[in-house]
This record gives sequence, C-alpha cells and structure tokens, in this order.
Amino acid sequence: MCSEHILEQLKPIVEDWKGKEGNLIMLLHAVQKHFGYVPREVSLQLSRLLEIPLARIYEVITFYNYFKLEPPGKHRISVCLGTACYLKGAPVILEEVKSILSVKEGETTKDGLFHLDVVRCLGCCGLAPVLMVDDKVYGKVSKGQVMEIVSKYGKEG
Ligand code: FES
Repeated sequence: MCSEHILEQLKPIVEDWKGKEGNLIMLLHAVQKHFGYVPREVSLQLSRLLEIPLARIYEVITFYNYFKLEPPGKHRISVCLGTACYLKGAPVILEEVKSILSVKEGETTKDGLFHLDVVRCLGCCGLAPVLMVDDKVYGKVSKGQVMEIVSKYGKEG
C-alpha cells in the first residue's frame, strides 16, 4: 500500500471524527472497518494527521484486543478457552491448531488463508471443547479431528 493512496482513503475518515470526543477509538474502528485491520502505515499517517504520538495510537490498539494489526485471514478459526471448553481439553486443541498452521493466537498464516483467535465462550458449552471456523461451530472436537477440520478449508496435510 503506498502512503499517498492510504492518505487519500484516510482523509475523509479523519474529517468525520476530528475534534469529536473519543475520536481516536472511533477512528480506529472506522479504519479497521475500511481496511479489515489497522495497518502500520495507517497508524503513522493518523499520528501525523491528528498530531498525536504513534505510541499513543498503539497503546489504544493493543489495549483493546478487538483491533487487529495484521490483515485478517480468509478463514477465521476461533478456539474457545472458556471454562467448560478449557476443562474438556481446549488447550490441547489450541496447541494442535497452532502447530498445524504454524501461527500463534492473533496471527494470520503466511498464505493468508487462516487467522487464529482465542475466544471466551461461544455459548455452546454443552459441546465443549468447541472450535469455530468462520460461522461454523465444531463441537466435542478431539485433537485428532483438528487436521481434518482445517483441511476442509484448504490446508493440505
Ligand atoms: S466455554 Fe466454550 S462454548 Fe462456553
């Protein structure tokens, strides 16, 4: 992404929020909605346009784990680590996903195919441990099933 192009896309967003209360958070929301994440170049431009230190912007981004610093993957895998899932072995499931995809929580695979997140309760504790890929919920998942599930979305074993 070239910085002029970013600036062009960013200006109307900044104009909308400049001077309003809580504008930095609202701006970051708008940025993430527009780009799908908060690219570093955008944070740099925001820092210049709003005349606030870059460190302040990163403070906000990292405080709210809603904000993403990497482009989202094509498929989002959410592993539930809520209490019910945790007790039924979710940490093992999480380790298996991480090892198959070679990513950590909050990261996207190099091919851009998967983004891995950890969540706290997906509201279907009876199916623990639960894993979700995009909008599809997989319940009572065993370590051995993880590769099978991931492969459905394009990852070859
Ligand atoms: S704790 Fe995992 S679905 Fe509720």
